[in-house]
Amino acid sequence: MIIDHPLIQHKISLLRDKRTGQKEFRELVAEIAMLMAYEVTRDLPTKEVEVETPIAVAKTRVISGKKLGLIPVLRAGLGMVDGILRLVPAAYVGHVGLYREPKTLEPVEYYCKLPTDVSERELIVLEPMLATGGSAAAAIGMLKAKGAQHIKLVSLIAAPEGIACVSKTHPDVDIFVAAVDEKLDYNGYIVPGLGDAGDRLYGTK
Ligand code: URA
Repeated sequence: MIIDHPLIQHKISLLRDKRTGQKEFRELVAEIAMLMAYEVTRDLPTKEVEVETPIAVAKTRVISGKKLGLIPVLRAGLGMVDGILRLVPAAYVGHVGLYREPKTLEPVEYYCKLPTDVSERELIVLEPMLATGGSAAAAIGMLKAKGAQHIKLVSLIAAPEGIACVSKTHPDVDIFVAAVDEKLDYNGYIVPGLGDAGDRLYGTK
């Protein structure tokens, strides 16, 4: 699903701009993630409760059912966590780290720390740039291996190749993006994209 609300489109444009500095970049990633979370959580089940207002008893609704888990893929995924936690402060956060094996280019797990009850949670994997899709697909595979059953993937910008990879490997996982770009370059960067999200978030090179 492409979440193309005008506010999100505007902020994505600012994010892409190479003149946008680290502080603003970080703020924009958090804001876009928060705006996207509004749509990503649209299907959360609710139940009716009664609340006493100063005037009378109101029949009203609260979120019920599964609790949420946010799973940022290290390291750029971290930039999306705080924005979403502002909307769902009770969500647990697990972390997944992968690196690309230089010879095979296959993603290899180097870190995985998850809430103990992943099988009972609705998990939202955070991978800002869905490029080849290899890391996201591997991260989702790691979650499934630990018993996770309800997983969504949220990316800011995706390449068609990344969407195809994750959809093929994990057809049960809904993918939410703010923009789908043209292609990957020979280094695996999204074109036009926004460059290296991790470097722009953390001021590294
Ligand atoms: N990771 C990034 O940070 N940017 C890309 O364009 C692709 C992967």
